[in-house]
Amino acid sequence: MSSPRRPGRRTNLALLVLLAASFATGWLAFGVGASPALAVVTTLHGVIGLGLVVLVPWKSVVARRGLRRNRPHLGALTLASLIVASLVAGVAHATLGPLDVAGISALDVHVGAAFLVVPAVALHVAQRPQRLRRTDLSRRTALQSLGLAGGATIAYAAVETVSSVARLPGSGRRGTGSYEAGSGQPSRMPVTQWFTDDVPDLDPASYALTVHLPERHPRRVTYSELVAAADTDVRAVLDCTGGWWAEQEWRGVRLDRLLGEVEGESIVVRSVTGYTRRLPAADAPRLVLATYVAGAPLSAGHGAPVRLVAPGRRGFWWVKWVAQVSLDDEPWWLQPPFPLQ
Ligand code: HEM
Ligand code: HEM
Repeated sequence: MSSPRRPGRRTNLALLVLLAASFATGWLAFGVGASPALAVVTTLHGVIGLGLVVLVPWKSVVARRGLRRNRPHLGALTLASLIVASLVAGVAHATLGPLDVAGISALDVHVGAAFLVVPAVALHVAQRPQRLRRTDLSRRTALQSLGLAGGATIAYAAVETVSSVARLPGSGRRGTGSYEAGSGQPSRMPVTQWFTDDVPDLDPASYALTVHLPERHPRRVTYSELVAAADTDVRAVLDCTGGWWAEQEWRGVRLDRLLGEVEGESIVVRSVTGYTRRLPAADAPRLVLATYVAGAPLSAGHGAPVRLVAPGRRGFWWVKWVAQVSLDDEPWWLQPPFPLQ
């Protein structure tokens, strides 16, 4: 080889690629929907994440060498702690079940620590940059990558096998990685909302929904009118990015019937809290504004007086405490992929 070899450079670059791919597939798993078929995304995410563990023997050589040098190590050690915390919590969630300590779940720790990894790794790489070389695109690198992919797949298969042989709760989780909680019994269903939201206390007697259609006066629909118009029962799975799912029978009014002629690109559903999601107008026949679940009015925590039921979508689309529904010509994807408020 022409260039002098610097042991560890490729290990470090592989770590960078794996971290970026873990982060991307983690969010992808939340973004793509609620179908169990999406297990392919969560599996890929798990395999990529465990690839980091496969590289530990190589990285520990690099790290020991780095630690012997006389320079500050706090940033690198913080990064290492965050990675360990995220990995341990991710595997714990995927195997031991929906662990919860003082209201904080293993999945919260997993995603929270992964979030903090981003600035930590950016700093680490900025202080210890690694150059790309032309030989990085060689046959040798391709074979090494294949070896890494094989090792990561074996690591994932080992975790899944232990989980299934030991009948750990993880063997019963859904393809999205979520655990069943309260199907058919809404009172047992967890109350979770986007971390920026709080449960409001609304009085159905004074509640009214506002419907905005282009070139028409806004229309007010009261709670009793909505209950009277409820003509649709839909059995649908609410699969929350908080890591739980429940199947319920929801009753309400279909959005295409509420809006009448649906002419526009997207439907904007807004909560009294300001929380907003934009959905494709073509979905209107599948979207329901529900007032009842399992034969009883919704509870405040589950979205009373009215919530959106969006079958096939993850929970953050199921806007609770709906105050306003409007139709406009903006494309539905013109919004942050995940709520920012
Ligand atoms: C899983 C993610 C990573 C962890 C946990 C990690 C951890 C560490 C630790 C603990 C050290 C030794 C302490 C020190 O140098 O202050 C180190 C050194 C180093 N890291 Fe990382 N690192 C990671 C990813 C990366 C990445 C993505 C790069 C660059 C692309 C990188 C490049 C380096 C370099 C160049 C050294 C110094 C080696 C030397 O001085 O001989 N690391 N890393
Ligand atoms: C540093 C970045 C990340 C790494 C290294 C990582 C790694 C992992 C690992 C190893 C697992 C366990 C897989 C298994 O044993 O089945 C896991 C599970 C999971 N992670 Fe991540 N992850 C990262 C970031 C994220 C992010 C940003 C999200 C979401 C926004 C996320 C969502 C999930 C979910 C939902 C599971 C459960 C999947 C299942 O049960 O199969 N992860 N992750």
